[in-house]
Amino acid sequence: MPTPTPHISAAAGDFAEAVLLPGDPLRAKHIAENHLDDATEVTAVRNMLGFTGSYKGMPVSVMGTGMGVPSASIYATELIVEYGVRRLVRVGSCGGFAPGVEIRDLILAVGACTDSMVNRSRYDGKDFAAVADFRLLRAAGRAAETLGLEIKAGLVHTSDLFYGAGPSPSDAMQRMGVLAVEMEAAGLYGLAAECGARALTILTVSDQLITGDRSSADERQTTFDDMVHLALDALVLDAE
Ligand code: HPA
Repeated sequence: MPTPTPHISAAAGDFAEAVLLPGDPLRAKHIAENHLDDATEVTAVRNMLGFTGSYKGMPVSVMGTGMGVPSASIYATELIVEYGVRRLVRVGSCGGFAPGVEIRDLILAVGACTDSMVNRSRYDGKDFAAVADFRLLRAAGRAAETLGLEIKAGLVHTSDLFYGAGPSPSDAMQRMGVLAVEMEAAGLYGLAAECGARALTILTVSDQLITGDRSSADERQTTFDDMVHLALDALVLDAE
């Protein structure tokens, strides 16, 4: 699978070794235009936009992943295997449900439970512990302190179904202390482990699944920008 790949039209060397991964390609464009210096578009296959620029002098790329483990896994695999990406930070949204988890909260996904089968496929049918890279996690914790951003760190659940068949969140998720549900982290963590890359997922709570609270478009934009700032500062700290 040489470059360009089936899903990414960038040339070899077009991506930095560190990449931010929002689900929405227009969020990738927003990050490139508002958070990076000298960003240029490097891929647009299927409108899944990718950009490379710099932040505080560090080369960094940003690319959309689409929604769900299969879509995110396609892009992340090609970025790691063919473009040499080594550090991947997903910046996404989630539905929070644990007590004390409110809309606009920032969550560091220390680990990701899942109903997806991808990590069992990778791990001989057994249960792989899909966890964040410790150094990236620690860097994000430190960056949050410096920025004065409050964070919650813990488990999330990566679901294959947005419109679930059962109660969402399940009793087990609540009993076991899971904070929120999203749709990509467990796949990203398993893939990073398999490919020798390092990954972290940072999330903002867009919906409170128990109370039904939803953040407004304005609130989502502000918390999204805080999260991007945190992710970029974490990547800089991690590189020091
Ligand atoms: N489920 C899955 N992913 C999400 C949700 C949700 O309720 N909210 C935001 N991302």
